[in-house]
Amino acid sequence: MKKPTSELISVSYAHPAQKQAAQTFANAHELNCQLLHKAQTELTLNFTEMQIELIDLSNKMNLTVDFIGGSLGHRKKYGGGKGQTIAKAIGIKQGKPIPSVLDATAGLGKDAYVFACLGCSVTLVERSPIVAALVKDAIDRASLNIEFTDILNNGFSLHNTDALKFIQSIDDTEKPDVIYLDPMYPEKKKSASVKKNMQMLQKLLGHDLDTDDVLKAALEKAVKRIVVKRPKGAPVLSINKAPTLNYESKGTRYDVYII
Ligand SMILES: C[S@@+](CC[C@H](N)C(=O)[O-])C[C@H]1O[C@@H](n2cnc3c(N)ncnc32)[C@H](O)[C@@H]1O
Repeated sequence: MKKPTSELISVSYAHPAQKQAAQTFANAHELNCQLLHKAQTELTLNFTEMQIELIDLSNKMNLTVDFIGGSLGHRKKYGGGKGQTIAKAIGIKQGKPIPSVLDATAGLGKDAYVFACLGCSVTLVERSPIVAALVKDAIDRASLNIEFTDILNNGFSLHNTDALKFIQSIDDTEKPDVIYLDPMYPEKKKSASVKKNMQMLQKLLGHDLDTDDVLKAALEKAVKRIVVKRPKGAPVLSINKAPTLNYESKGTRYDVYII
């Protein structure tokens, strides 16, 4: 895990009114905290009156998570549905019960939100406190909106912890139907296909090189299905078991392990 380092990232606030919240977060994670215009680090987690945002000060990009507006809200209204490859990958089928999903590498919660829009109860696990803060802030804001009520009622809960620990501690009576893994994959440097948000996350998190262990733990838990998202052409995770099947969509492959 790449722990946030005070050389790379600090915490900031737009106005003194947000100072206390920003300072509390900074203290908990041993990061420096200051007004935004005084930030010296390349990245800053900035607290504003409206939201929490990750800003890349080196190229003036910022990243927030929004489950109501933006591209995710658009996808909920106009895209998606049970025909999506990702829906097939987690085993959604007409006439079958909707599975519960543990998204063990939740990141910015985009895939988790797609599962929730399909009616799944979703548990999100994210180990980076910075990324988890962005997602928690988005959940808190969305919770004020009536459009999010069904998602909350079905279950959409976030845990800022490591997936390996979380999976190992799942009680037999609380097993999810599906465990979903989407680790950071080493992309070619400056590849145009790496979206700007992903570039910021790569700067913050590096690559996830320990997902084999998480997959092994998931297989040992014997949930019904495990799905690993990979870029098309990437090798399967190196464990002693081949995927049962896979689904491909543009640029992405879902390796499915059925137990
Ligand atoms: C590629 S991103 C996931 C993107 C996500 N599927 C989405 O739709 O936004 C991978 C995320 O998994 C997290 N991660 C990787 N390994 C993890 C682990 N063992 N436990 C918890 N989180 C993990 C990383 O911190 C990163 O935020």
